[in-house]
Amino acid sequence: MVQKNNQILKNTNAELLDQFNASIMFDKKLYSQDIRGSIAHSKMLALQNIISNDEQKLIEKGLLQVLEEIENGKFKFSLEYEDIHMAVENRLTQIIGDAGKRLHTARSRNDQVCTDFTLYVQEKTKSIEKQLLTLIETFVNLASKHTKTIMPGMTHLQHAQPINFGYHMMAYANMFKRDFERFNSSYERNNFSPLGSAALAGTPHNIDRFKTAELLGFCAPTQNAMDTVSNRDFALELLFNISTTMMHISRISEELILWSSYEFRFIRMSDMYATTSSIMPQKKNPDVPELLRGKTGRVYGNLISLLTVMKSLPLAYNKDTQEDKEGVFDSVETIEISLSILNEVIKTMTILEDNMLEASKIGHLTATDLADYLVQKQNMPFREAYYLTKEVVQKANSLNKDISELTITEIRNSSKELENIDEEIVSYLSLENSMNSRNSFGGTSTKQTEIQIDSFNNWLKEVL
Ligand code: ARG
Repeated sequence: MVQKNNQILKNTNAELLDQFNASIMFDKKLYSQDIRGSIAHSKMLALQNIISNDEQKLIEKGLLQVLEEIENGKFKFSLEYEDIHMAVENRLTQIIGDAGKRLHTARSRNDQVCTDFTLYVQEKTKSIEKQLLTLIETFVNLASKHTKTIMPGMTHLQHAQPINFGYHMMAYANMFKRDFERFNSSYERNNFSPLGSAALAGTPHNIDRFKTAELLGFCAPTQNAMDTVSNRDFALELLFNISTTMMHISRISEELILWSSYEFRFIRMSDMYATTSSIMPQKKNPDVPELLRGKTGRVYGNLISLLTVMKSLPLAYNKDTQEDKEGVFDSVETIEISLSILNEVIKTMTILEDNMLEASKIGHLTATDLADYLVQKQNMPFREAYYLTKEVVQKANSLNKDISELTITEIRNSSKELENIDEEIVSYLSLENSMNSRNSFGGTSTKQTEIQIDSFNNWLKEVL
């Protein structure tokens, strides 16, 4: 009886250990990269006469069968084989026999996992870049329809100066362009093949790492085997790049939430991307941007989590790094769906131009223009002009008007020093003139906004 109990305990512990140790439940996602890597490795081994051409052919054919089995759902993933690398190799040997046992010559799972993961990260980097370009295009198209749509530009979430909605959209286009470039530069920096680094110190076999690098689309092999098997910087870069993009997504999401509230009413989100309340029948909730904003937190968590795993790890390979994958997979899935859904939300929302214009008449957005006018036309020191303008704002407040709505008499009456101000000041204080007066490079004028849009369209043509 005691013996039986011990047996049960032993089995349970072994199962527990398998469960704890194995990564197959999540790294099976890397099956296609693993098989690609193995085919390249086998081709190189044959070219170097480490295995025969016949063995290579068998191995390649067998690996393609494994690929098919996995893709058709026929492959049995089991904890017994710990990870995707062992699982594929084992099945290969079942299918082709002894030749399968030669595949792992001159490599280790340590360089294999780095190869698979780098391939995955590089592929995802490219597909995220594509999604970013689609999103940038959406912002640019929307911007081009609204270079004259006046809205209040804000600082501290308070009305500051009139801008056009297109200009605001181009601010996001610029953010996502930087994101695109960040992914792109990470791709270039990390495009080196780990394969052939072996366990940590290279191999006595006469391998050709340049060949496998070429076969896998890398620009060259990595320089130092020890660094290579210890390195997860490429994954950290991806997590950082995704985090920064999600941060930008969370900022537009926050604005969409604010803009669709009754207090702003600048946009109306398509019914498809808004949800109702289960209790309040009148409600339309911005769940989608709220989720985008919320998911940003999870993505940051994945970055911090891998940074923490990597902290203080001694060289070279340590099993800790098996913890690198789940967070990356999660962040990749999150950014993929987030970019798609944000693109749809932006494309389908309605811009409530009249409300934007009305809101621009609150808060004396053109007050700075009066000060600038006095400086430019009357050579007044700015600080003096600033205080005079304050008097005009007070006058407007007392009349319950916005500064952009004052008549020339009202302006002249607001201060002794403005008694003789030229009538042209009225047009200077209009929202449209104010917006268009900011015609410095990168400024909000319709002209500058159009210049920006043109340069983005040219850039898009180049990269698309
Ligand atoms: N499953 C492992 C990982 O994801 C593969 C490398 C294992 N290497 C080793 N020596 N245990 O990191």
